Amino acid sequence: MKKIAVFASGNGSNFQSIVDHIKEGNLNAHLALLVCDKPGAKVIERAKKAGIPSFVFHPKEYQNKSHFETEILQQLKNFEVDLIVLAGYMRLIGPTLLNEYEGKIINIHPSLLPSFPGKNAIEQALEAGVKITGVTIHYVDEGMDTGPIIAQRAIEISEDDNAETLANKIHKIEHTFYPEIIQKWINENK
Ligand code: GRF
Repeated sequence: MKKIAVFASGNGSNFQSIVDHIKEGNLNAHLALLVCDKPGAKVIERAKKAGIPSFVFHPKEYQNKSHFETEILQQLKNFEVDLIVLAGYMRLIGPTLLNEYEGKIINIHPSLLPSFPGKNAIEQALEAGVKITGVTIHYVDEGMDTGPIIAQRAIEISEDDNAETLANKIHKIEHTFYPEIIQKWINENK
């Protein structure tokens, strides 16, 4: 069975949906490790509850990115991780991980890329006044939300949507879309 690691920095609702899909037999993978760069983030509690090991670190305690990524890499190797799933991990991935996991790092972003990359994608879409936004799952490269697109889902923005209602719509899609695409990656990378 393929082993995955989820990287997250905050709430972890996508982490939770992956846990739940696996538990319910709707995703055939082993969630081996949570990697979190924010001690105190809610996602750490979720991992504890689900009995999933986590590697939590404080970036400021390291000289630079390559130092903490070297430690992450060691953890990934210990757990024999095949695929890295970024789910709200608020950091760019550096060469240490990119070189070792080429084509094996994916991310989910709450807009139809290449529109609205970076932070606050939902607010950016509302401000731009677009009528359709969505969710993108893509391979990760050294840029900010720039890697090759794997799949996208569109969502209509209605007149009365605000940041909260739109975020809810987006999360609802993400929570089934991400497990589906992870399963697809696994099927194609046997
Ligand atoms: C999601 O909207 C995802 O698209 C973005 O960060 C958010 C993470 O939410 N990359 P959560 O922590 O999974 O609840």
